[in-house]
Amino acid sequence: MANVVSNSARLLHAGFVLARYDALIPADQLMQAPWPARTLLKIAKLGRTESLTGGEHNNLTSALTRLGPSYIKLGQFLATRPDIIGAKRAFELKILQDRLPAFADAEARAIVERELGKPIAELFTNFGPAIAAASIAQVHKAVTLEGKTVAVKILRPNVEIRFGNDIESFAFAARMAERLSKQGKRLRPTSAVAMLKDSMKLELDLRMEAAALSEIAQNSKDDPGFRVPEVDWTRSAKRVLTTEWIDGTPMADVPTLRAKGFDLNALADTVIQSFLRHAIRDGFFHADMHQGNLIVDPNGTLVALDFGITGRLSEGDRLFLAEILYGFITRDYFRIAQVHFDAGYVPDTQDVNTFAQALRAIGEPIMGLPADQISMGRLITQLFEVTEQFQMQAQPQLLLLQKTMVVTEGVARTLNPTLNIWKAGEPVVRHWIERKLGPLGKIEQAGGSFMSLARLGLKIPAIIEDAHRITRKLSDMANTEPPKPSQWRTAAVLAGAAALVVMAIEMVLK
Ligand SMILES: Nc1ncnc2c1ncn2[C@@H]1O[C@H](COP(=O)(O)OP(=O)(O)O)[C@@H](O)[C@H]1O
Ligand SMILES: [Mg+2]
Repeated sequence: MANVVSNSARLLHAGFVLARYDALIPADQLMQAPWPARTLLKIAKLGRTESLTGGEHNNLTSALTRLGPSYIKLGQFLATRPDIIGAKRAFELKILQDRLPAFADAEARAIVERELGKPIAELFTNFGPAIAAASIAQVHKAVTLEGKTVAVKILRPNVEIRFGNDIESFAFAARMAERLSKQGKRLRPTSAVAMLKDSMKLELDLRMEAAALSEIAQNSKDDPGFRVPEVDWTRSAKRVLTTEWIDGTPMADVPTLRAKGFDLNALADTVIQSFLRHAIRDGFFHADMHQGNLIVDPNGTLVALDFGITGRLSEGDRLFLAEILYGFITRDYFRIAQVHFDAGYVPDTQDVNTFAQALRAIGEPIMGLPADQISMGRLITQLFEVTEQFQMQAQPQLLLLQKTMVVTEGVARTLNPTLNIWKAGEPVVRHWIERKLGPLGKIEQAGGSFMSLARLGLKIPAIIEDAHRITRKLSDMANTEPPKPSQWRTAAVLAGAAALVVMAIEMVLK
């Protein structure tokens, strides 16, 4: 009962802030809203000054920023689903900055000393002020006793507690939404919240980020033009991560990159190829590849930072992905369709030819565009929209990949606006397929897809096992029947929160 009260209170506060910022219901739809919602909005806006929001387009963004870290994360989730929250709002959320005021240096030093069990003076000869501060952590530049310059990332004080509370409220709202509304049930918000919780657990343990850096370093040690900062394990703990300082040019600063004489086209290729290599070859990829997390070092090497969010793909997922990309490149829609059936992603009750026809309807208009306008990420986005209509279970790991692909392509295109993404990516896809399954020609002669061949005895047990493992894990987390989870379903959480707030107000007013 106490939980219900505190969760409701927190949600009520969230609803209040959203309403105060005009973020709950767009001003032009206000008159169509039910009366309790209109009353709530009026109450929330009592005494509000117009300066609350910085412009007509960022009400939701301002409100979420004000509500704090977990809501910022939620907003980042929702930004990728215009089909759920509308194009305008998704666009608004895209500019949701993950930048907050820094916490005090003294506090940062205290956390480092507590976590590493030594006074600062025994760890660093110099410990500078924060150079960047975001919702979860901030970064300081420091020099070790051995004279190495390092970046020290420190979790915000009490951030775990805050996330814990907010996630509990989200879960509560999700349960209510599932119980109260048909739409809420279909969107399965509880499994989405469970996923958000799982991903936050990793992000809030910097040892996991250190391990991710180390794993990517090992996987990519022979990759051309790409590296990650080295981890200083002796100065890292749950709340502190120390890595080699990269003295480079931020990827966002294209004019300086150009002025320094770097080959921007080659860099754009490296961005795409590194991402695809990690996803397809290694099955472990950086899932937050925006410009702010990329630096170019003085040798022109692309350095990726910030491994708080990563994605994993099973052997089966990787085969599947390679097949899809290759299928679209060769415009072999039947093959792409067959792959979905072979992988068990689309149920046998569906018709493979009709599915292939739907794939052609997405593929042809896109593949017919000039090469510099084709986006793999968008293609896959549309693919998932169609697969859903054919009752394909949502595959969260593939959704994360698709989202990252769109971001990665955006970064590459800022470096080279005429980039042909297929051309940049094809060598990686082809190389992997060839290495995995022998010469392409042989397979084409065999007349089947790689998946079908694989099915003849290669990897199917592993694929099935993976599928079982993922399903089991997710159903443990969601604590319900075997879920079809996907991140975008978090959208329903917001809807649930709003519904609750409206109900509460209705009760008060009665
Ligand atoms: N090893 C590093 N070398 C140089 N700058 C770094 C390093 N690590 C982080 N930074 C700087 O700090 C910023 C924030 O670090 P990041 O790991 O991305 O944290 P967050 O999760 O808060 O985004 C980066 O955008 C970059 O400017
Ligand atoms: Mg970052």
